[in-house]
Amino acid sequence: MSYSTPTERSAAPVRLALIGCGWIGAFHARSIAGYLPGVELAAIADPAPGAAAGLAGELGVPKYTLDAADVLDDPDIDGVVIASPAAFHADLITRAAAAGKHVFCEKPAGLTPDELEAALAAVAQAGVEFQIGFNRRFSTDFAEAKARTARGEVGTPQLLRSLTRDPGTDAGLPHAGRIKPYTIFLETLIHDFDTLNWFNEGARVVEVRAIADALVAPEYKDAGLLDTAVVTLRYDNGAIAVAEANFNALYGYDVRGEVFGSAGMVTAGNPVQKSVSGYGADGMTAGTERLNIELFRDAYRDELGHFAQLIAARQGRGSAPGVAGPGAQAARDALAVALACIESVQTGAPVVMSRAETAR
Ligand SMILES: NC(=O)c1ccc[n+]([C@@H]2O[C@H](COP(=O)([O-])OP(=O)(O)OC[C@H]3O[C@@H](n4cnc5c(N)ncnc54)[C@H](O)[C@@H]3O)[C@@H](O)[C@H]2O)c1
Repeated sequence: MSYSTPTERSAAPVRLALIGCGWIGAFHARSIAGYLPGVELAAIADPAPGAAAGLAGELGVPKYTLDAADVLDDPDIDGVVIASPAAFHADLITRAAAAGKHVFCEKPAGLTPDELEAALAAVAQAGVEFQIGFNRRFSTDFAEAKARTARGEVGTPQLLRSLTRDPGTDAGLPHAGRIKPYTIFLETLIHDFDTLNWFNEGARVVEVRAIADALVAPEYKDAGLLDTAVVTLRYDNGAIAVAEANFNALYGYDVRGEVFGSAGMVTAGNPVQKSVSGYGADGMTAGTERLNIELFRDAYRDELGHFAQLIAARQGRGSAPGVAGPGAQAARDALAVALACIESVQTGAPVVMSRAETAR
């Protein structure tokens, strides 16, 4: 995907501030600073002592602070990239919008419908751009699968599939020692729910069933860590979808999507590195991408390029992106499914979605 960057139109860069510079925030900072001409990473905020200062020093970012208010109050900042832990997202979105900043926020944009709606109301009231970090939409293979589906090439969708197999960290555990219950739905499978909703655009989820367990690390089950899950969704256009996740794929980072319809099938996602394959007496070997920031390196860059282009267009410095990015409704729809999964796991029963939960 290519984006018309502001330098092609004007000398003034789009000025972004990063809020939260941990694992994904630091990667976003490097994408902005290194790979998005016409976009300036102007400030970094993170309450962890030394975190913002260290990254700002590495990347030559002129301003760093422990307090997000310092960047929200800065009139020279056009937009913010929020990559704090999820518990702070809704509040930071609300404050950024109130300060007139355009907002890119990592998923989930809120952890409850109430806090999400409050944040999205602040965005609407301020009239600022809002984009959520559903980066798979910017991966060329997923975008091509979506485009073919939208053109009717697979006919009427009947079965959809999306899966995330995460290599994890710390001997297979995602963030061991920092267990947040239901992360598998709220922060991992939420990507898959968005992918399925996007592939099956225009349809509404009417029923959700989820089963989940701690198969990778049963010793953490009592603390609330679920590391393996399968979810089935029924849509109001009749399509049935499956999402699944596991936190310990030893062979690498494996994300795939599929739409099967009345006229055929499209698939997206391949964990095999495309550069070199080896052939020998025992068959073929190929490396695999180990991390999300390897498999989706370009997609992470391009989602931020899309956000910057939205801002530049709003400032009259170029055209808006040709495709819509994931915004408020995508954030709502995916969170509604994630919360229904939690309810389904707790009750052991399917959850019927009300029209209000998935309003369009
Ligand atoms: N889109 C993706 O593929 C992807 C990948 C990884 C993480 N994420 C999401 O990004 C978010 C961050 O995840 P992470 O793995 O980078 O976490 P992390 O713990 O590595 O980093 C979070 C950072 O936020 C800082 N922080 C804490 N409280 C803050 C606050 N109130 N305001 C600002 N900063 C604060 C922390 O000091 C830390 O540096 C999560 O919501 C996660 O789901 C998305």
